[in-house]
Amino acid sequence: MTIIDGKQTAEEYKAALKQEVKEFVAKGKRPPCLAILLIGNNGASETYVANKLKTCHDVGFSASLYRFENTVSENEVLTCINELNFNSNVDGIIVQSPFPNHISPQKINEAIHPAKDVDGFHPMNAGRLQQNKPCYISATPKGIMQLIEKYKIETQGKHCVVVGRSNIVGMPMSILLSRNSKPGNCTVTICHSKTVDLASFTKRADILIAAIGSPELITADMIKEGAVVFDVGITRVADKTAKSGYRLKGDINCDEAAPKSSYITPVPGGVGPMTIIGLLQNTLLAAKNAIYN
Ligand code: GUN
Repeated sequence: MTIIDGKQTAEEYKAALKQEVKEFVAKGKRPPCLAILLIGNNGASETYVANKLKTCHDVGFSASLYRFENTVSENEVLTCINELNFNSNVDGIIVQSPFPNHISPQKINEAIHPAKDVDGFHPMNAGRLQQNKPCYISATPKGIMQLIEKYKIETQGKHCVVVGRSNIVGMPMSILLSRNSKPGNCTVTICHSKTVDLASFTKRADILIAAIGSPELITADMIKEGAVVFDVGITRVADKTAKSGYRLKGDINCDEAAPKSSYITPVPGGVGPMTIIGLLQNTLLAAKNAIYN
């Protein structure tokens, strides 16, 4: 059994990105620039955004943060996005989710110009992914694909079960693994909150990807012997013994599931660290006009 080290893999990709940025800037280009919009003061979002900003600076990007109160109007956010769409010094734009209820994720995602949509959430990028055209692939599925490549995990002909059907993870993941490429060529089953007898599906998975955000929903008895297991869940669960007052839990009980798995990602330190890398790789692609040109 191998514990997949997302932290170490992310460090390697980060070093490669830093080198690419250095070469890009040496050609006389300005550093890639990511604009991050943050609405309200969700604790987890604050942490994610701080990490994104730090990693941008570490690899030589410029990054700017646009903060909004929880009460900001949808129009005000859309206006900011529109200005950034036209700002030729900005390559990528993301709005950190979740948003307050009065702000429509769909409107926000569609307001960002597809060429600057480095989260890959715009329907144009989602559609281009489905049609196997150049596009921005959202960071979490992209990170998982890179872990599959790094660990030389065979996917062809395997049965992959994706638990979760979100636009951010489950859907793009199922497309990436089923398409005719390497890695790819899996037979994919998508499970979700209305699936009856989830265990009957997960037990048949050669590759199991859990992205439901339900702490330790998947127990060892639901996993096939020798399966490859990716845990995307990262939920803060209250824990008085932890300094922060919470502990991060995945969708899978890793301690129990690890002995049955051939490869497994821990939480934290598995899929999570790779997601920032995917975002920054997309921003560099945007700076190079590599997707839409
Ligand atoms: N919130 C949690 N994950 C993400 C992500 O990948 N992008 C954005 N914009 N918000 C998130």
